[in-house]
Amino acid sequence: MTTNATDFAPRMTLPPGPRFSLFSKIGYLRDPISLFSQMKDKYGDPFCITTSAKTVFTADPAGVKQIFTSPTDCFLPLQVEAQKQVLGKAFTGHSGAEHRRQRALLAPGLRTDALHRLAGQMVNAARLRMETWHLGQSLDLVEEGMAIALEIIIRALFSVHDRDGIEKRKKAVRAFSEQLSNKLFLFTSMMGLLHPAVPSQGKFIHVRQQFQDLLLQTIADIRADPGNHDGLLAHMVLAKRDDGSPAFADIEMADNMITMLIAGHETSALSFGWAVQAVLGTPEVYDKLMSELADVDLEVNPNAVHNLPYMNAVIKEVLRFWTPVPDVLRLVAKPVELMGYSIPEGTQVCACVWLTHFDPNIYENPWDFNPGRFLDRRYTAFEYYPFGGGERVCVGNTFAPMELKVLLATVLKTCRIELKDNKFPTLLRTGFLLGPKTPLRATYHGRLL
Ligand code: HEM
Repeated sequence: MTTNATDFAPRMTLPPGPRFSLFSKIGYLRDPISLFSQMKDKYGDPFCITTSAKTVFTADPAGVKQIFTSPTDCFLPLQVEAQKQVLGKAFTGHSGAEHRRQRALLAPGLRTDALHRLAGQMVNAARLRMETWHLGQSLDLVEEGMAIALEIIIRALFSVHDRDGIEKRKKAVRAFSEQLSNKLFLFTSMMGLLHPAVPSQGKFIHVRQQFQDLLLQTIADIRADPGNHDGLLAHMVLAKRDDGSPAFADIEMADNMITMLIAGHETSALSFGWAVQAVLGTPEVYDKLMSELADVDLEVNPNAVHNLPYMNAVIKEVLRFWTPVPDVLRLVAKPVELMGYSIPEGTQVCACVWLTHFDPNIYENPWDFNPGRFLDRRYTAFEYYPFGGGERVCVGNTFAPMELKVLLATVLKTCRIELKDNKFPTLLRTGFLLGPKTPLRATYHGRLL
């Protein structure tokens, strides 16, 4: 049973939680899933723990709805200063009108019509990667997903097609991601130690500068020959304000690209790995999906996979079960009532995706991987929200499911792979995301076609 936020008379204290913060800080950085479950069992919903600051967690759709639908001056993006250090002048560091303006200019490049043009390239990116596999090879499914997703997002953003250009950008993204997932970097960022003299931060700043330089050069190339480029970056370079001046400064474009590259490939790669593992590890799901895919010819119409009801349900269930972002956070900008508590300014609030997705009052037998639940029932945007919600909902929320469907269909229809281990590894934090504790492994047994 769920509640309405208005069912409560406000209390002046924060929700209950542990007295000491070290345990929750470490748990949050390492094993957020266990921490969230323990805290909910012990303190109920909402509960309050200290992560980088006091944070009120709720998984109740009433609380989630309030977080996602309140006016934007109520809840701000989190750790704006830390975010700016990482993502510079990207639109994610803004709120209100400027955030909306930049998002509106980015969004057309990620809408369904633009993406339909990309489906063939997605199939090719997967095939290109599969050509490197040899018989008997042990595949790390997330690593494979990473290589494919990176190739796709680079093509989508820059429309570079030459191997050298793609590889150069892949290298820059990998170096940057590596720094981001460095635990010391995360810890020092959380502590607010944003200074080049802090070793983990100094290395990060250097890698970031190199990445930015590469993107600034790409922008100059586009400007020198705009007719020869499409893709999201070219669209931004050519965008104008009402008075005819450029819609974005160069540095804003570079930082927005860094943000899209980082936000848009690891999430997809993890989900791809889980999708393959889940489908191959659940024979009845595999059989149903393969029979639905039987009539799809990926050469002729790769977009056909987008409208398959069971494929849709499979991807939804994958993103429910292994949601890469387990918690969506906001900063309270002015005192607010949430779930019966008065939350002071400066506190953080969290819509706890993972706890909602495993709430047995919403999902029957939540620990069963059961795509059919999405055929039987529609869930609200506050019961199912792997892409967050409200004004800051993921801009890739159309791109990512489309990409996952094309990639899963391509792999399943093209090659024979067998899981090394049918057991699902536990989830731990990898950087900002949740990933498997041990690699998702499968063996390649050759092509089907
Ligand atoms: C399975 C794949 C993905 C998942 C699960 C995912 C999840 C999320 C979540 C939970 C958020 C936070 C939303 C909020 O604060 O309410 C987010 C934000 C964002 N995502 Fe994704 N994402 C995925 C793929 C992508 C892709 C492919 C792109 C780019 C093409 C992308 C770009 C972004 C950006 C730029 C933001 C920040 C939006 C803003 O602050 O306005 N994501 N994503």
